[in-house]
Amino acid sequence: MAHIAVLQKETVLSLNLKKDSVVVDCTLGSGGHAALIVSALGKNGCFIGMDVDETALLANKKLETVTTTKVVLIRSNFAKIQEILQEQKVSSVDAILADLGWRMEQFDGTSGVPRGFSFKNDEPLHMTFGKPSEYSFTAYDIVNEWAEEDIANVLFAYGEEFKSRKIAKYIVEARKKAPIMTSGQLAEVITHAVCGTKKTPQRIHPATKSFQALRIAVNDEFDVLRTLLLSGFEALAPHGRMSIITFHSLEDRIVKETFKNFTRDRKGILVTKKPIGPSPEEVKMNPRSRSAKLRTIEKL
Ligand SMILES: C[S@@+](CC[C@H](N)C(=O)[O-])C[C@H]1O[C@@H](n2cnc3c(N)ncnc32)[C@H](O)[C@@H]1O
Repeated sequence: MAHIAVLQKETVLSLNLKKDSVVVDCTLGSGGHAALIVSALGKNGCFIGMDVDETALLANKKLETVTTTKVVLIRSNFAKIQEILQEQKVSSVDAILADLGWRMEQFDGTSGVPRGFSFKNDEPLHMTFGKPSEYSFTAYDIVNEWAEEDIANVLFAYGEEFKSRKIAKYIVEARKKAPIMTSGQLAEVITHAVCGTKKTPQRIHPATKSFQALRIAVNDEFDVLRTLLLSGFEALAPHGRMSIITFHSLEDRIVKETFKNFTRDRKGILVTKKPIGPSPEEVKMNPRSRSAKLRTIEKL
């Protein structure tokens, strides 16, 4: 299924773009926001798009040719924004966007690279946004090699999963028989731990929180977000803006707290006193947008 960019108008407005702005989109994804940003820039503008996933770069190749704006696409983790800007000889930027998490094609397997993000598909269990070899460990390593207590801690800390201990116990029992190789096998073990043999319909899939937790751990999502917020803010020109879209309360809290510290230190002002969410129409059209929150800060 094709990814639909969330909060499109709100995001572009939040960045306060001028024709000659230098903009970094840290999460190119399927290019929905990127296309809107590039169309707001003129021939003296510059757009740097990055994504840690090669398939996102391929999906956005056409951006380089459809505009007179300078467009540079780079495969990189956004935690390296400072290095990337140095390499590109960019001393300051006017706008930075990060739209966190996964894009639909990564989740449903249609990006061409199976990752095991979804409990609905039966894919190899690595859960990395980029190449698995570039990460310290994968979801396979966590579920097949980590101690029961460490698995439980990950599920609780990053998924707020209250049944974390029971799930970890079931995972360790299951792997004694054979390694848990795929997302489908893992989803089955977790469903069994949460629901037993009952077939009561659940509002959300019983593996939702555990899958989120494993993905956050594997991609070190909270630390890379903190690094982006600090280095990105550092790279902003005076009156430059940084907009971040989050999809769950744990990452939104990191953005909220970091932005609060910038304002407390009189380095920035909040453009969004409260986070901006989707309209009921957007949620109807794109249910994934329902948990999206956009926060923007402007550098003083
Ligand atoms: C929600 S999607 C972005 C969608 C995009 N705004 C659009 O309009 O299509 C998030 C993207 O961020 C990428 N991503 C996740 N973590 C990343 C990181 N640490 N560094 C760079 N890209 C990352 C994912 O690979 C994914 O393509």
